[in-house]
Amino acid sequence: MTLRIAPSILDTDLAHLMDEVERVLGAGADQVHVDVMDGRFVPNLTFGAPIVRSLRRHTDAVLDCHLMVLQPENYIAPFAEAGASILTIHAEATPHLQRHLGAIRAAGMKAGVALNPATSLAAVEEIVPELDLLLVMTVSPGFGGQPFWQPAIEKVRRARALLDRFGSAAMLEVDGGVARETIGALSAAGADTFVSGNAIFTSADPAREVRELRRIAGAAADRRARA
Ligand code: DX5
Ligand code: ZN
Repeated sequence: MTLRIAPSILDTDLAHLMDEVERVLGAGADQVHVDVMDGRFVPNLTFGAPIVRSLRRHTDAVLDCHLMVLQPENYIAPFAEAGASILTIHAEATPHLQRHLGAIRAAGMKAGVALNPATSLAAVEEIVPELDLLLVMTVSPGFGGQPFWQPAIEKVRRARALLDRFGSAAMLEVDGGVARETIGALSAAGADTFVSGNAIFTSADPAREVRELRRIAGAAADRRARA
């Protein structure tokens, strides 16, 4: 199983964003997680397509854009033009998920769906073949640095079973409170893509933290594979 570490730029020093991004990419991070918040879907306001465009000018890394916005269909074209690689929208944000996933793929990006903690996996059961990424939130979205929601581990196990039942190659991403203490259990439950913000960027050595998170996730995945 391919494991991916996706540092979240939400709580980095945005005044030195590219230095921060290059540091973690240099340490082997697989993709850059960009948290887009509109102040409506979540009680916080962050950044939009312009930051993706700026990043794309300086890197060909995978830009994993997590849209915590209402009417996500309004952002598909701007993020595609800006150079986003993956566009993940929330199941709770629109009644037309299936249509928008098609539009995201048609715009040349990978299509992802995010589920808030209280949202059942049933919300994506009918559309698994149209997913390139399933994001199981491990906190309620809106802020970095929140405590990990422990019941998510069982939900990840069921999400892994759902994807396997369909023979889906979609990434199974987790996001929120992912750190040394939590990543092993998430990997053992079947997650393969790990977003981490504060655990990486508030550490004394973000590069070393990326490597350590990968080591722990890898060991858990190996144990799972042998089980
Ligand atoms: C929260 C965001 C997360 C957040 C993760 O709504 O979607 O990506 O930045 O940050 P940590 O790892 O600090 O919980
Ligand atoms: Zn996120």
